[in-house]
Amino acid sequence: MNEQDVKKEIDRLTDQLNDYAHHYYVLDKPKVSDAEYDQLLSELVTLEEKHPNLKRDDSPSERVGGEPLDHFKKVQHAIPMLSLSNAFNEQDLRDFHRRAEQGLGHAPTYSCELKIDGLAVTLKYENGRFIQGATRGDGTIGEDITSNLKTIASIPLRLKEDVTIEVRGEAFMPKRSFERLNEAKEKNGEQLFANPRNAAAGSLRQLDPKIAAKRNLDIFIYSIGQIEGKEIESHHEALDYVASLGFKTNDQHQHCETIDEVVEYCEGWLDKRADLPYEIDGIVIKVDSLRDQEQLGFTAKSPRWATAFKFPAEEVVTSLLDIELSVGRTGVVTPTAILEPVSVAGTTVKRASLHNEDLIREKDLKLGDKVTIKKAGDIIPEVVNVLTEQRKGDERDFSMPTQCPECGSELVRIEGEVALRCVNPKCPAQIREGLIHFVSRNAMNIDGLGERVITQLFVHELVEDVADLYKLKRDELLQLERMGEKSVDNLLNAIEASKENSLEKLLFGLGIRFVGAKAAKTLAQHFETIDELKVANREQLEAIDEIGEKMADAIVTYFEKPQVAELIGELKGLGVNTTYKGPKPGAPEENDSYFSGKTVVLTGTMEEMSRGEAKAEIEALGGKVTGSVSAKTDLLIAGEKAGSKLKKAEELEIEIWDEGRLLSELKK
Ligand code: IVH
Repeated sequence: MNEQDVKKEIDRLTDQLNDYAHHYYVLDKPKVSDAEYDQLLSELVTLEEKHPNLKRDDSPSERVGGEPLDHFKKVQHAIPMLSLSNAFNEQDLRDFHRRAEQGLGHAPTYSCELKIDGLAVTLKYENGRFIQGATRGDGTIGEDITSNLKTIASIPLRLKEDVTIEVRGEAFMPKRSFERLNEAKEKNGEQLFANPRNAAAGSLRQLDPKIAAKRNLDIFIYSIGQIEGKEIESHHEALDYVASLGFKTNDQHQHCETIDEVVEYCEGWLDKRADLPYEIDGIVIKVDSLRDQEQLGFTAKSPRWATAFKFPAEEVVTSLLDIELSVGRTGVVTPTAILEPVSVAGTTVKRASLHNEDLIREKDLKLGDKVTIKKAGDIIPEVVNVLTEQRKGDERDFSMPTQCPECGSELVRIEGEVALRCVNPKCPAQIREGLIHFVSRNAMNIDGLGERVITQLFVHELVEDVADLYKLKRDELLQLERMGEKSVDNLLNAIEASKENSLEKLLFGLGIRFVGAKAAKTLAQHFETIDELKVANREQLEAIDEIGEKMADAIVTYFEKPQVAELIGELKGLGVNTTYKGPKPGAPEENDSYFSGKTVVLTGTMEEMSRGEAKAEIEALGGKVTGSVSAKTDLLIAGEKAGSKLKKAEELEIEIWDEGRLLSELKK
């Protein structure tokens, strides 16, 4: 084949495969079998590999995910991505309608559609080609996730018309894909996603697009952000138009003539939502006429022409099979409901915390009861109430034990507290939980040491206290289940690196009562070394803002223990840092400022401040100001008459700000 014939063949295969993909992923009406599609795709890939110059930018082979990024670029939205006001019941819907009618002088008609529970994204097309996709971010500035979005098969890479358009929609993970993903994660002992929304957002925020490509994400486009050269009069017309361009729109939308119809539509979905293959968290109601929309306008946060009818959290009935007890790091014994597994808001729920004995009594829970459960904030399972009228008489009373379920020592109820506590400092459950806390993110942040590995280390008697973590040997670790050479090396490196942590991480990790991450930081800043803190008395501690009597008391009691002195001596001997390394009190928090850790270049003439002043301000906020633009530069601030540096930054696609943007960031 000569080059021209190859080009024709590549074009033909690209068009054909894109058409098949459109029928499969967007219209849900496959034209050919999967095998036939795969065969054609492999023909195309073979040709593209031999003739990379002829590969089209809308080739289906682009969907596998490109090279990993090291960060996401920021994108400024030309039109802000606002949120919606909420309606929680019929009255709220009627109030919304009344306000719209008053604002317009006539009753509008509405477009009602499902509120997909995923992640809002905006997609830009230039002359029909997909050029950029971004997250909503704070509504004004989002992140460029183009490479991840390209892996979503229902996002067209080229439109059916060569239009320049920006569309907005919701990227989501279908329920079935979510379940499969969590099943796989569970098998690998990895942390599960709480719901499909988190899974979708987590997938799209991965720097490696190959991960997003495997996650089986989908999208529904619900509006036009901007469009050139086309007059559209209503929202339903806009939806029809974007569908005609090749986008996937949700086909459950309905044009409602009256607010009664809107109410009926919303109520209808309360029951039907469970049958959908994706999660929705409400209904979006939009005034249909675009002229009416314009007339109603916006408040500071949301349009006056739309509202979201939010569903109440899903409540499901199941059985309370048992109550399990667990002992936490501080010895508190927590009861957990073991439930007949049920699906709630996207995940299978098998357990729910019952917090303490009082709650069990208040709710009058008996083993075998039918209970209503929901997920608070759509994440944490919770028992709402007991269906006492469904009791059969064979339900059993539950009472809390008097002895620790882990070590058998007598439990105590400290005055003024609802919790029952095991006060044996050698209780294995407390030690294990203490270790899990010590390695956690806000504490020593040792990657690769999750609950599973800690439990194994503990069971194999490789660790008894936190100092033992620093004595672990390579060959011991290699004997643990599912620990290969690579994970062992990574783990040992992470343990070694944690020795360099600043004092506050160690202090928080030690798990002194009442000392959270924030107090640990305050203490570390104030005393600078653990030895100074160790000898501080109650008065010195209480003199610090944020440290109250209870905490001061807990700190003194902690450091008085001889075994604590021993442990600290041991940690020091093993090379663990016990001094504070961060900024002095009063200095801006590291992560507070936009500039912290960023490399910034200043160029051109500034009007409001000199370059020297700008440099000093940026450095005070943790940024580094350098003289020349390179791939390491994160941000260029361009004043008037900026020249070659600006050009270079543009070439390297580095974020560029003008002076005004700098001033507004410095004021924050
Ligand atoms: S229209 C001015 N339509 O809900 C905002 N939003 O608070 C116009 N959402 O983050 C949004 N499904 O991502 C609209 N059919 C739908 C939607 C929808 C889900 C999300 C959207 C936004 C949030 C609104």
